[in-house]
Amino acid sequence: MLAGEVLWRVGIHCLNRMEADSIARLHVTGMEALLAKDAVFFHENFAGALTKRVLSFAQQYEPFVDTLMFRVVGQFLPLAFASVVLWRYDPMLVAVLLGMIAVTGVLVTPLIRRRQILVDAREAAYTGLSGHVADTMANMDAVRAHAAEGREAAENRRRVTELRRLTLRAWDYHNLRIDTLVAPLSVATAVGGLLLAVGAAGADGGPGVEAIVVTVAYFGQATQILFQFNQTYRQIERSLTEAAQFTELLLTGPTVLDPESPQPLASRARDVRLERVRFSYPGHSEPLFDGLDLTVAAGEHVGLVGRSGGGKTSITRLLLRMMDVDGGRIRVGGQDVTALSQADLRGLIAYVPQDPVMFHRTLRENIAFGRPGATEAEIRDAAAAAHVLEFVDGLPDGFDTLVGERG
Ligand SMILES: Nc1ncnc2c1ncn2[C@@H]1O[C@H](COP(=O)(O)OP(=O)(O)OP(=O)(O)O)[C@@H](O)[C@H]1O
Ligand SMILES: [Mg+2]
Repeated sequence: MLAGEVLWRVGIHCLNRMEADSIARLHVTGMEALLAKDAVFFHENFAGALTKRVLSFAQQYEPFVDTLMFRVVGQFLPLAFASVVLWRYDPMLVAVLLGMIAVTGVLVTPLIRRRQILVDAREAAYTGLSGHVADTMANMDAVRAHAAEGREAAENRRRVTELRRLTLRAWDYHNLRIDTLVAPLSVATAVGGLLLAVGAAGADGGPGVEAIVVTVAYFGQATQILFQFNQTYRQIERSLTEAAQFTELLLTGPTVLDPESPQPLASRARDVRLERVRFSYPGHSEPLFDGLDLTVAAGEHVGLVGRSGGGKTSITRLLLRMMDVDGGRIRVGGQDVTALSQADLRGLIAYVPQDPVMFHRTLRENIAFGRPGATEAEIRDAAAAAHVLEFVDGLPDGFDTLVGERG
């Protein structure tokens, strides 16, 4: 018994380490895979939903492995032991026990598969709900400015009601369809076992009452397995569904890629040339640009003026290779932007986007985001140029003040 306890502790200790390592690896893999995605991907996927998916991708590993270890392995070992004991009384007992478990598995599996469709619908609704919550939180100022709290709350209620409906549909299917099949099978198993045991016990030179007691005990345990078969399957299914949702996103690789052997940056004056550029956003039939030529000489200041939606921001995004042209090319200092590494290209460009960007980090980290090695003096100069210095010196924590995502 003591040796068993020691082995158990050692086993759990090793399992804990293995699980913690794997979860950590999945977190890192998930985040790195997302960081490798291109801009189009993030336009097509809610930030909030992605956050939920990438985190549960890693977190679901623990219940998944625990279920395999404790439910699957933990139930089948005692079953093997029970089979050996029952075999000594009557091999038929073992045949009935294992046979009924197999029959239940075969009958229940198609029902559980059908339930998978309901579970997928529920998960999709949950992803939508969490995306909406995150979206509202991230744009709280806009929500308040438009007095849209009521509308957002109503949308949230609508999504919660839908989630409730889909959740109940999946649960009811389980309770009313699957368990109503398992229940009579488990009763049949117990009764069959009892009748066989009574028959075996009463035979000439039979094992007697002992066999009946042992059989009832083991068959009782086996019917537990029949019911837990659902729960086991359900937990494994939940883990796999959640992980699959994220893995699916990883299957489509980024469309903006570094060339296999990027050209080194040439050290020459860097003019910018767009040559016969053609580009359309995915899903738009009309191209946004078709045969666009634009030359900006080195040192020249050019302002692009145009109606909203005219494509000014899109030009900067093409130049930064947030997305790639469909035809023609863009050159910087004579070099095609697709021949450079994305890091080299973007290192050449100081990009001040239309929407202010703030990380939930210190002012210092926010200012130096584009140049991680920036010195204190450089950070102060940049802050002075942006008229930020005027209020930073008045803050108790100065550049170490934590600022919110929205400033
Ligand atoms: N991610 C996107 N997916 C699909 N279409 C987009 C996307 N971003 C922009 N567009 C479309 O491309 C066109 C150009 O948009 P862009 O943002 O480049 O215009 P803009 O000139 O910067 O406008 P503004 O003056 O409003 O900033 C618009 O019709 C817009 O609807
Ligand atoms: Mg714009």
